[in-house]
Amino acid sequence: MKAIVYHEYGSPDVLTLEEVDMPTPKDNEVLIKVHAVSINRSDWEGLTGSPLYARLGGLFKPGDKILGSDIAGTVETVGKDVKQFRPGHEVFGLMLNYGGGFAEYACASEKALALKPAGLTFEEAAAIPQAAFIALQGIRAKGQVQPGQKVLINGAGGGTGVFAIQLAKLDGAEVTGVDNAEKLGLMLSLGADHVIDYARVDFTKNGQQYDLILDVIAYRSVFAYRRALAPNGTYFVAGGSVATLFQILLLGPWIRRSTSRNIRVLVVQTDSKDLVYMTEFIESGKIKLVIDKRYSLSETAEALRYLGEGHAKGKVVITVVPGDQR
Ligand SMILES: NC(=O)c1ccc[n+]([C@@H]2O[C@H](COP(=O)([O-])OP(=O)(O)OC[C@H]3O[C@@H](n4cnc5c(N)ncnc54)[C@H](OP(=O)(O)O)[C@@H]3O)[C@@H](O)[C@H]2O)c1
Repeated sequence: MKAIVYHEYGSPDVLTLEEVDMPTPKDNEVLIKVHAVSINRSDWEGLTGSPLYARLGGLFKPGDKILGSDIAGTVETVGKDVKQFRPGHEVFGLMLNYGGGFAEYACASEKALALKPAGLTFEEAAAIPQAAFIALQGIRAKGQVQPGQKVLINGAGGGTGVFAIQLAKLDGAEVTGVDNAEKLGLMLSLGADHVIDYARVDFTKNGQQYDLILDVIAYRSVFAYRRALAPNGTYFVAGGSVATLFQILLLGPWIRRSTSRNIRVLVVQTDSKDLVYMTEFIESGKIKLVIDKRYSLSETAEALRYLGEGHAKGKVVITVVPGDQR
């Protein structure tokens, strides 16, 4: 099969289109013919090897040679322990090892897969998984936003952010979105009450305090986040610099005990129920999917460059099988 492969960390220039062996599903996995795969910041992190946690699979060279985690496609074969799916089923989901999707075929555990609703194209379904998991758990399951609360989403114009803004608005919150100047209009169009251009204003120094902060791109000190939290407020970091994540892991428990502020790393669970939940919102029109651009498999490097250089508004999708999108 064809796949986009890399053998060293670096810029999108290190990616090549190669002929590789088909993957073989384990007993609890399904083999999927990939129709579409979306790009996440985790792919950019895996490509560049930065932040350092992106090198968990290999410190000097990437462990997995194929990136791409959010896929939608058709089941080809199933492992002997797979119960929910059979060949021909149209499915979508997140691959638990965050890799293998920039290819014509990929293997995924059945746990993180759901049936693709007939009303969504493969491209639309591929745009959902990772961003939906983070947004649903950050805003609803763990964030438990209440009407009238002030919620700030840092990195709100990206994949997770566009879902998070809309979920927080559905829950009746007053929402502030932070991202670059190109994305302020998008955040407002999705319902954000206030927007901040991160290049001009530091939300931890503008005198405002929030009941919930969901941060997908944290790089400040833990004390800056404490300052931006209202009493009894919660700060969740989903991604960011290793220095910030370490500080939060080390000092978060002490801040929780000594102040009434809850500062934590959000560890996202991949439960296919969340995929079904999000697609119901999308199909009912309560939540809008934002797909900025589509590329072919051979253009994956270009697609990653577009995200890495800071242009992607919402999601970027790779169409692996063109022309059969439902
Ligand atoms: N905790 C977990 O269990 C878990 C699980 C999966 C993934 N993750 C992580 O969660 C994160 C998810 O990110 P995503 O996919 O939503 O990323 P994304 O689509 O790239 O969105 C991030 C947004 O943040 C913006 N941004 C960049 N620098 C910023 C700054 N200084 N201040 C505010 N915004 C800034 C980006 O804009 P620009 O265009 O300007 O760069 C982009 O619009 C990734 O780091 C991923 O590794 C965590």
